[in-house]
Amino acid sequence: MKVEIVTRRDGQEAIVEYDYQLRGEDEKPMVLDVLLQAQATEIPDLAYRYGCRARNCGVCTVDVNDKPRVACRAIARDGDRISPMATLPALSDLVVRRDGVARQMRGRMANAGQGNDLNVEAPDDYHALTACIECYACLDKCPMHARNFDGGLPGDMPAGTAPDPAKGYRWGNPFSLLKLQINRLDPLTSETGKGAALDHAVELGLDACVGCKGCKCGVGIDLMGKVVRDMVAAAGDRLPADDSSD
Ligand code: SF4
Ligand code: SF4
Ligand code: FES
Repeated sequence: MKVEIVTRRDGQEAIVEYDYQLRGEDEKPMVLDVLLQAQATEIPDLAYRYGCRARNCGVCTVDVNDKPRVACRAIARDGDRISPMATLPALSDLVVRRDGVARQMRGRMANAGQGNDLNVEAPDDYHALTACIECYACLDKCPMHARNFDGGLPGDMPAGTAPDPAKGYRWGNPFSLLKLQINRLDPLTSETGKGAALDHAVELGLDACVGCKGCKCGVGIDLMGKVVRDMVAAAGDRLPADDSSD
């Protein structure tokens, strides 16, 4: 089974064709299996990330045929093209910088350090949102996140003009909204804290969600139903009206 792996060294992109050797007629390898075998055989210095191998940690996400997929749970197919996530700056081969998103949230989570997963009084939606594994697959085609890169993707910006991830991205994304929505639904959050979470969502560009077709979560969380619509409704007049049906 042949796949293409997009590699990057010193800023230069190259495509390496790799012929995966099936370990049995019926094997349906995951994308991560292909990367592991490629590194063990023909591309020893291939750079990629993985952790749990069980769709729990989120760090293995790569683009497969230009769509973000969790590599340890995505079946590889003949002809697949495996590349780094286009929504974040590529560092080396399939490794992207993830810190711009995390830094954006630093110090803004009302209950930082006080996990509340066992609080039985939290609403069902709260528990549904804690299934997020921080894979960032939902950044795909998000117009709010694209504002960080002049409406495009990190690679679309002229050299030297892309924002520095170390400073945290100016504009938000479905993941940052989800984290703020968790704060809003957490019974331990004060009314002031809930208001501050909504304020932060508005600052991060919640207006981009008005009339947007929406975002898709890599592990199936209903982002539109449990996060975006509720926040847009709560922000009310602070956002422009949706004129997309005109
Ligand atoms: S609904 Fe909002 S968060 Fe989701 S893709 Fe659109 S702009 Fe991004
Ligand atoms: S909301 Fe879904 S797609 Fe986005 S980071 Fe969390 S698990 Fe990944
Ligand atoms: S290795 Fe942890 S989610 Fe894939």
